[in-house]
Amino acid sequence: RSLNWNPSLVEKRGFRHFMLKEIHEQPGVIRDTLEDRIGDATGPIRLGLSNDLFADLERIYIIACGTSWHASLVGKYLIEELAGIATEVNYASEFRYCPPPLNPRTLVIGVSQSGETGDTNAALTAAKARGVRLLGITNRPESSLGALVGELIDTRAGMEIGVAATKTFTAQLVAFYLLALHLAHLRGTQPGERIREILIGLQQLPAQIEGILDTQERYITELAREFDATRDFIFIGRGLNYPIALEGALKLKEISYIHAEGYPAGEMKHGPIALLDSEVPVVAIAVPGKVYEKTLSNAQEAKARDARLIGVAPLDEPAAVETFDQILPVPVVEEILSPILTVVPLQLLAYHIAARRGLDVDQPRNLAKSVTVE
Ligand code: G6P
Repeated sequence: RSLNWNPSLVEKRGFRHFMLKEIHEQPGVIRDTLEDRIGDATGPIRLGLSNDLFADLERIYIIACGTSWHASLVGKYLIEELAGIATEVNYASEFRYCPPPLNPRTLVIGVSQSGETGDTNAALTAAKARGVRLLGITNRPESSLGALVGELIDTRAGMEIGVAATKTFTAQLVAFYLLALHLAHLRGTQPGERIREILIGLQQLPAQIEGILDTQERYITELAREFDATRDFIFIGRGLNYPIALEGALKLKEISYIHAEGYPAGEMKHGPIALLDSEVPVVAIAVPGKVYEKTLSNAQEAKARDARLIGVAPLDEPAAVETFDQILPVPVVEEILSPILTVVPLQLLAYHIAARRGLDVDQPRNLAKSVTVE
């Protein structure tokens, strides 16, 4: 009996593309990112960072590009909400030439999956020369970024092969939760009980993602068929899920070459609503929390323009069932933890639409995994 052994399939562990394999690796990656850093959720968070990095901190700037920039937007929200430190997120290519005022009480965080992005490393080098404190968040501690920053959080996502970032993104998000909670603990901005609650919630995410992957892969494969002729998509979300709308749109355009825009849901009426008709599907991220009703009503405004409405939303929630034509269900968790779950159906949607079109999902045209040039 001969064995049909295909080395590339073995590397992909039976998945058709690295991207799909990496989407499925996310539960394990999150477990690794958390491993030995939070103990039983009662003790301090162990990130191995020096406390000098955070003493008398005035302001934080986060520098990144692409998907890492989206993770940073979630990071900003977490740091401001949990630790009360004013935080801004800058594109590295902008920060590099138009830096904000910086001083020794500024912490600059560089976020990068490759650790070799030219703009990010140049921006960090310029910031360093101005005497700021530097921290890196990357899965490549051995990279140029690692050498530049001195202090870093290894996201432990390991090597990612698909050009469209997936597991490195969720690992960056987890790193930001740990950092924000660590800062909250150091500054006493949240009671221990609150920190513990979020840490326990983080530990439950891997199993919840496994649930999404087990139940939705087939449904999303089918759904993808309906977009063979679609040319434009709009993604909307609010608060913590606004960056996830941006990320959903970026994933789709990167690998399927469909024009997609992410917008904060409340901003839709200031422009993008003019694009809507029955040919432009709208994907809305609407999970229970303080902006849930607002997001649903923005989705209904799109529906009134005949847009096809897809919700990343809870399955059994009457208002969501009423609003959306299709639901990509996510389990109900505390709003603050939701981005790690809501991004998963969007990754699958982008993947299956691109795979159906027969495109080179792992190596999309014109893109590179690591962009070292300006
Ligand atoms: C490239 C990749 C993107 C990535 C961006 C930033 O454009 O194709 O997936 O998000 O660079 O990369 P970094 O390595 O700095 O996270």
